[in-house]
Amino acid sequence: KRLLPMLAIFTLLLAGCGREDLSVLKPQGPVAQGQFDLIKLSISIMLVVLVIVFALAAFVLIKFRRRPGQTEMPEQVEGNFKLEVIWTVIPLVLVLVLAVPTVKEVFAFGEDHSNDDNAIKVKVTSHQYWWEFEYPQYDITTAQDLIIPTNRDIAFELKTMDVIHSFWVPSLSGKLDTNPDGTINKFSFSAPNEGVYLGKCAELCGPSHGFMEFKVKSVSQESFDQWVTAMKEPMVPIEDVALAETFKNQCLTCHAVGDQGGSSGPNLTGIGSRETVASILLNSDVAGEYTNPVEDNLKEWLIDPQSVKPGNKMPAPKDLGLTDDEINGIAEYLANYKLDY
Ligand code: CUA
Repeated sequence: KRLLPMLAIFTLLLAGCGREDLSVLKPQGPVAQGQFDLIKLSISIMLVVLVIVFALAAFVLIKFRRRPGQTEMPEQVEGNFKLEVIWTVIPLVLVLVLAVPTVKEVFAFGEDHSNDDNAIKVKVTSHQYWWEFEYPQYDITTAQDLIIPTNRDIAFELKTMDVIHSFWVPSLSGKLDTNPDGTINKFSFSAPNEGVYLGKCAELCGPSHGFMEFKVKSVSQESFDQWVTAMKEPMVPIEDVALAETFKNQCLTCHAVGDQGGSSGPNLTGIGSRETVASILLNSDVAGEYTNPVEDNLKEWLIDPQSVKPGNKMPAPKDLGLTDDEINGIAEYLANYKLDY
């Protein structure tokens, strides 16, 4: 009787795993492929062991079961040297078969590609609850959407501004922590195909850990170059003089847009072209489709940031004295701040 509801719950849980852009089981790059091959290898070994052990157990249970009328104890066997050697050696061999490719993969994963001529360096800094991406070779910084060209090694250097987070793009590679003790973790991946891949923070880091998402957008080399150029262009001015003043005094103290602003909050250049704002699945359906226009998302966020992403460090614009009109005006300006690439 309990089986049915439990099966139903299990199915529901699994339904959350169906996202194509967030699946370890559908690798989209060489690093993820290598790790997926390891998963397949270990599962195959486990299945073989499972089948043999269960078959043996069933055989023994049936063959040596107590028969009707049997009263005396069966013959007791204490130890069998040959058998013990066999069941020690077999697991040892299996562990070795698994260990060799695993160790190889682990070392390949941690290899430092940052000095390769062809590699693009990206310094990743995690914050509660957003991701900052700095491209030192191009002198640009962005947030939340990591734009990369296809077929280039992206050499990451990971650090955090506050607590431990973990950088994870399931369809492109395994995860790696960002550490508060100053240790810089390095690894790299590449994406052969154009596409958008979902990234997640994979380390419990506070109340909004579950919302700490980002996107990896792999684009053609040409689009990437265009994006780099667009990122370096000066800020598109706000026409309304009063609103421009408010934006400058209240928003640009922490955020950068184009060539203006501060760096303690996420860089907002081209936020209108981003896949999501505030790194959250605002009004998304189960499959993670974003149903709201960026402008509505921005308004929802600006009206009450704490209700959207609890514990974040963004002050509520209302508390800073901004009126509803100003908030709407800024949302509209940012939503239309798009980059051509
Ligand atoms: Cu950051 Cu979890």
